Amino acid sequence: MAARLIDGKAIAADLRANVASAVKAMPQQPGLAVVLVGDDPASHVYVSAKAKACQEVGIASFEHRRPADLPAADLLALIDSLNNDDQVDGILVQLPLPEHLDSLTVIDAISPDKDVDGFHVINAGRLATGQDAMVPCTPFGCMLMIQQHLGDDLSGKSAVVVGRSNIVGKPMAQLLLAANATVTIAHSRTPDLPAVCQSADILVAAAGRPQMVKGSWVKPGATVIDVGINRIPAPERGEGKTRLVGDVDFSEAQAIAGAITPVPGGVGPMTIACLLRNTVVAACRRRGLPLSAAL
Ligand code: GUN
Repeated sequence: MAARLIDGKAIAADLRANVASAVKAMPQQPGLAVVLVGDDPASHVYVSAKAKACQEVGIASFEHRRPADLPAADLLALIDSLNNDDQVDGILVQLPLPEHLDSLTVIDAISPDKDVDGFHVINAGRLATGQDAMVPCTPFGCMLMIQQHLGDDLSGKSAVVVGRSNIVGKPMAQLLLAANATVTIAHSRTPDLPAVCQSADILVAAAGRPQMVKGSWVKPGATVIDVGINRIPAPERGEGKTRLVGDVDFSEAQAIAGAITPVPGGVGPMTIACLLRNTVVAACRRRGLPLSAAL
């Protein structure tokens, strides 16, 4: 039987609606500052999508686009001014940064309370030690989808996360662990990756490799979350055409899994919705306002 599709678009639309209601109830409009350095075309697309999503839920968005040769000191000065700007509740520096800029130094310059990406070392440490943290948007969105399908308590479930990035793999593993799953982080140097994946009741693919996870790697009935967004050639659509695929071979895995996220329409919409949610959470915390239970 084909797996149930976990509809990220629909879950994200619900979350965005809850964010919009929370924003309406706030005495002052929350604000998100997005910093984009350089001209990576994918980053420009993501940043425009984030600004549009802010508008739709009533969050003010402040875009700061800078050239690729921006000196590190200028970027740090911009972050400092945003840290001190009362209209700004959340700060996001779009990654990747040009090579001459050290992303860890830049991220750690953001005030942890405005770090809506949850990438600051303080937030990573809070998450790892079970304290209130800003949680990175992509893994948080994955967790909402997993828990919608399996419930909040993942006791007795084995989870395998393929990928060990600071942005997705590591925080994903922390969230699964906090929900009582038994967690393995696998990566490109893991021996017999297919066998490790086959042990997973919950399989999160975040390796950044198109269609790497084959159907034969999936345990029958497993919940499969595909974080990958990869553009590959699609000559069947015409010369020079491309299409988006995840890190999972969807057509193979769909026949084996119990539930699976599609690409597009799975994790992607959840990431942006969670960014909006984190911005409202940051605004409520900073201003001492109660947080809507729906968030
Ligand atoms: N680049 C790719 N994903 C992300 C993300 O979630 N946040 C930021 N800041 N940059 C990214």
